[in-house]
Amino acid sequence: MTTSRKTKVGIIGGGPSGLLLSQLLHLKGIDNIVLEKHSRDYVLSRIRAGVLEHGFAALMREAQCGERMDREGEIHEGFFIAHDGVKDRIDLHKYTGGNSVMVYGQTELTRDLYEARDKMGGEVIHEALDVTPHDLTSNAPWLTYRLGDDLYRIDCDYIIGADGFHGVSRKSIPKDVLTEYEKVYPFGWLGVLSRTKPVSPELIYAKTERGFALCSLRSQVLSRYYIQVPLTDRVEDWSDEAFWEELKKRLPQEVADQLITGPSIEKSIAPLRSFVAEPMRYGNLFLAGDAAHIVPPTGARGLNSAASDIYYLYHALMDHYLKGDDSGLESYSQKALARVWKAQRFSWWMTSMLHSFPENSTYDQRLQQTEMEYLLSSDAAKAALAENYVGLPF
Ligand code: FAD
Ligand code: PHB
Repeated sequence: MTTSRKTKVGIIGGGPSGLLLSQLLHLKGIDNIVLEKHSRDYVLSRIRAGVLEHGFAALMREAQCGERMDREGEIHEGFFIAHDGVKDRIDLHKYTGGNSVMVYGQTELTRDLYEARDKMGGEVIHEALDVTPHDLTSNAPWLTYRLGDDLYRIDCDYIIGADGFHGVSRKSIPKDVLTEYEKVYPFGWLGVLSRTKPVSPELIYAKTERGFALCSLRSQVLSRYYIQVPLTDRVEDWSDEAFWEELKKRLPQEVADQLITGPSIEKSIAPLRSFVAEPMRYGNLFLAGDAAHIVPPTGARGLNSAASDIYYLYHALMDHYLKGDDSGLESYSQKALARVWKAQRFSWWMTSMLHSFPENSTYDQRLQQTEMEYLLSSDAAKAALAENYVGLPF
């Protein structure tokens, strides 16, 4: 027997995209249910993004989820680019007329969203298996899922596919409707989280002949470091000692000398990929976040692009339910994609400038070097970098 119920908006995926939309809609009195495949502990064990655009931070506040972020998160007004043994600062504040980014981990942000959902009695169903969207092009789409041996059906007005890159939503759009664009990079990032004081109060993006490295942080006692590794490497190949040794080799001497090392509390490899699926709407299914697009993490755009999708969807659904105006829903895919592609361009550019590409010719290498020299010598180029890094307007 299948248990049936109704809601206005059925949301697939309880990651940051799905939870943020759920919370924003609930605050406007728009009923919704989130279906998440995994347990809450599993979702909260994923260490991912760390840098939030100011517009995203504002959306968290609008969702009444900004209190801890504002207390514990750090406002960063700049970051460093290290190269040839030195580091240059990109002054975000100066080049954007006063803007900055918020350093606050995705894990904490997701935790805050879950807590807010709990407090408001929001419905997030965990370990929902075999989630399947149906009748997407009708006015009455529906979802089915399984909890243990029990089958459930939810009838909705709209379905939001916020179920990440490997989710079911994008896959339920017919192949002849969807165009997928993809670029796979020949390397990954090996990331380590350690309970140590960060080597620098601001992030350091380092380009060296040995490959890229990033010094990031979650707080003044929690560091996050990454190094570029070949795709053939496995996490087991890298002891903590080997990681720290390699990281030091990729940092200017004065930075390496300051590095405090310690046991890793998380270590993982993320392959680098750029991906966009168009359009982001099929009938009454709307894709959002990693379900529709992926970027390499170099420009810190992934979660931020997800947040901009949610901003557009939230406004579109509000206009529909509160004003009877469907223009936001009609233009969602086009609007979201325009911004998504700019984030793609920026992430590709940062990735291309900062990583070692084994297949690059000496000509390519000189161009890459010149790109960096130009950036660091031009206020206009630095302003373009800063404008993209703090986030283009929604
Ligand atoms: P997800 O976080 O993937 O959430 C999707 C959810 O859907 C998951 O909880 C999943 O379990 C669930 N799900 C999947 N399939 C199903 C199904 N069939 N049914 C139901 N539920 C399902 N971005 C930044 O902006 N800044 C950064 O600094 C940054 N750093 C990063 C560093 C690393 C190492 C990585 C890997 C990513 C980084 N990102 C960064 C990207 C960012 O983490 C993602 O863009 C973000 O998680 C997207 O959120 P989402 O909610 O769209 O998708
Ligand atoms: C992170 O802290 O995880 C992080 C920060 C900046 C990036 C990517 C990842 O560009």
